[in-house]
Amino acid sequence: MRFALTAIISAVLVAAGVNAAATPRAQQNPNDCLHYAKYTGIYHGNYQQSCVHLIYNCMNTLNSTNSRDPWGTASCVASATCWGTHALDIYMQCQDPTLEPSQFPTLNYNIYASIVGDCAYQEGGCPITFQNYVDFVYGQLSAVNSTDWPGSVDDVAQNWWNPIKDWTATGDSIPYTNFNDWLFYSDSQ
Ligand SMILES: *[C@@H]1O[C@H](CO)[C@@H](O)[C@H](O)[C@H]1NC(C)=O
Ligand SMILES: *[C@@H]1O[C@H](CO)[C@@H](O)[C@H](O)[C@H]1NC(C)=O
Repeated sequence: MRFALTAIISAVLVAAGVNAAATPRAQQNPNDCLHYAKYTGIYHGNYQQSCVHLIYNCMNTLNSTNSRDPWGTASCVASATCWGTHALDIYMQCQDPTLEPSQFPTLNYNIYASIVGDCAYQEGGCPITFQNYVDFVYGQLSAVNSTDWPGSVDDVAQNWWNPIKDWTATGDSIPYTNFNDWLFYSDSQ
């Protein structure tokens, strides 16, 4: 009897969770959606064509796999770093109004490990270096068959890496937790 009751309660909770996840949040303002569709790839006033390829792959991947886990999608993580999380969060919600950025799963550890290497699995992990980030973002551009590339590694530092580094304030490299915090709380734009 006790088991049965527990089972029923669990079933109700699961059902409630499913409903909560499927409830559309406030629809994004259509003007915002038009704005970000037009300004795709513009981050703190700087347009990077290569970033657009990452964003399109991210959006298509989320849509085609019906995913609610952008930080478990490598091209979305890369897109956040080249477009800022503010625009990307809104743009994802324009495509799927049921998405709630504060509810996204935290940065997938396998993606983080693919950025930093095997030291991710050592005691205490290891922080992301600039070289790790460069390899990640060029690797993602290659993975999405980008035909456009950043002008130089200096551009990558100035436009994409330094703003993250400035926000996390963890020196020249960025630990998992701080990078994850940046994804959730920086509202970078
Ligand atoms: C998402 O995918 C569906 C089916 O593949 C398609 O009909 C729809 O237009 C896509 N939505 C967006 C916003 O691309
Ligand atoms: C990139 O190109 C390869 C080879 O043509 C193809 O198999 C793959 O699906 C493409 N990837 C994307 C994301 O378009």
